[in-house]
Amino acid sequence: MRPGAWLQPAVLTGTLLPFGVLAYRAAGGHLGANPVATALNQLGLLALVLLLASLACTPLKLVTGMKWPLKLRKTLGLAAFFAALAHLLVYAVLDQGLSWRTLAKDVLSRPFIAVGVSAVLIMTPLAVTSTKRALQRLGPRRWQKLHRLAYVAGVLGVVHYVLRVKADVRQPALYGALLAASFAARLALGRTARKPPPSDA
Ligand code: HEM
Repeated sequence: MRPGAWLQPAVLTGTLLPFGVLAYRAAGGHLGANPVATALNQLGLLALVLLLASLACTPLKLVTGMKWPLKLRKTLGLAAFFAALAHLLVYAVLDQGLSWRTLAKDVLSRPFIAVGVSAVLIMTPLAVTSTKRALQRLGPRRWQKLHRLAYVAGVLGVVHYVLRVKADVRQPALYGALLAASFAARLALGRTARKPPPSDA
């Protein structure tokens, strides 16, 4: 086995585990008094955690100089997208009864829902273009530019969480701080990495 070959399957298992636990608890009727709200909130939180984890990969590579975090970026990003889709499905089907009229009214009247929808809309082209073929078709520059939108999705995810909790913003503020730290590290270290080495002349 190649050194580090266990990492990708381990992370994939780790990302699938919360989905499995949630499905198992739902099937056994162990999601508490309001199972739909519990599933909705847990999937939303999972989407945000996975998205922030995928955004931390590049800064981690820049800080440590090791390449392994980059191998996990796509798995974590796709898992975040699937958690967001599951979150959206639970909301649209189980919470709103798939009534398009109610859904449209909710999106238009509650800014926090509109922000969540925007985050999912931004994450969709990123997931669709996560393949090697899409990278070749777009070219590395355009692909990179497009995938910078992941930070916008992260900001929208945090804003969505802030608007949802209303009063006690400590938890979403923590996620916001992690996102800001990732972004700052990427900006600062990415710039240093691109700088040409100083010449003695
Ligand atoms: C179509 C898109 C989305 C819709 C309609 C939506 C809707 C909701 C709803 C209805 C709740 C529960 C509110 C409550 O119980 O009062 C919620 C909670 C949440 N959502 Fe979303 N959401 C969307 C996208 C997202 C995305 C993309 C993320 C993250 C990247 C996210 C993260 C969260 C978080 C962190 C919570 C709160 C979890 C908690 O309190 O433990 N949502 N969302």
